[in-house]
Amino acid sequence: MQLKDTVAIVTGGAVGIGRACVEALAAEGANVITCDLRPLIEEVADDLTSRGGGKVQGIVADVSEPEDVYATIDLARDQFGRIDILVNNAAVWADHTVNDPQSKALREYEEIMGTNLRGCFLFGRAVMPSMIEQGSGNIINMSTYYVVPPKPLMPRTPEELAIVGERPPFTDLYSASKFALTGLTQSWSGALYGHGIRVNAICMGETDTPMLRSYWHGRPFPYRIETWIKPAQIAKLVLDLLHEGPEGRTGQNIGAWVGTPIHLPPRDET
Ligand SMILES: NC(=O)c1ccc[n+]([C@@H]2O[C@H](COP(=O)([O-])OP(=O)(O)OC[C@H]3O[C@@H](n4cnc5c(N)ncnc54)[C@H](O)[C@@H]3O)[C@@H](O)[C@H]2O)c1
Repeated sequence: MQLKDTVAIVTGGAVGIGRACVEALAAEGANVITCDLRPLIEEVADDLTSRGGGKVQGIVADVSEPEDVYATIDLARDQFGRIDILVNNAAVWADHTVNDPQSKALREYEEIMGTNLRGCFLFGRAVMPSMIEQGSGNIINMSTYYVVPPKPLMPRTPEELAIVGERPPFTDLYSASKFALTGLTQSWSGALYGHGIRVNAICMGETDTPMLRSYWHGRPFPYRIETWIKPAQIAKLVLDLLHEGPEGRTGQNIGAWVGTPIHLPPRDET
């Protein structure tokens, strides 16, 4: 219960990595406000609250909409009076090719950048006044292994290549949104360092969630699934980062690759 009485906001907490983070934070005693587009979020919150630990409250909200973002933050302030932790997790991924019609490209640009970048930007900027006033806080951006130096990937069989390709060429928008997060992580960590606020990103490889399963077009290979990182392992990384305390690392992209041990690396290796 090391996070007892702290207050966390987790975006996109209905399924996948977000849900695992909500569960792990509440189990450590944090009170959690979690938002999601899926109405399921309210059920998830009730279920996690019933397990003891911190209180979890769910709110249906779209991270790309400023009014929804402010409503989520107001809920945290009204219910618990402070905000200690923000996990910027909600994101979307979509198939596209570089010669898609411009109208489709623009629609996907708005959706992917709106969620993955503007959503993180809005939430980050909106929690900062509370954190600055408190003189403490933690912001964790969920990024991807695309933005950190590569580790060897498992070779793909011809059958797998037919489904997803060697280096999927249809991720320009998702990739760009996550590289932009590195900019937010680095700028915010510098701007907030003197206020006792740490800002880091977790840059994970393939993790078993609805998003990854959709990437495999609903047909992941069983042997491949066994290699995937589990959402709870990413949630554990989040807890380990928080447990470093006020003197912990900041401004870091922390890699987590399939086929390697999933743990917080020594500070000088991040
Ligand atoms: N799963 C992976 O292999 C993987 C790899 C690298 C990075 N990531 C990152 O980890 C994070 C979590 O991914 P995941 O795999 O758990 O995804 P997921 O799709 O399984 O879950 C994401 C959740 O976010 C919600 N969401 C989407 N758009 C939203 C919006 N506009 N407003 C509010 N909620 C919204 C969804 O409803 C869903 O509940 C994302 O930032 C993703 O980019 C995942």
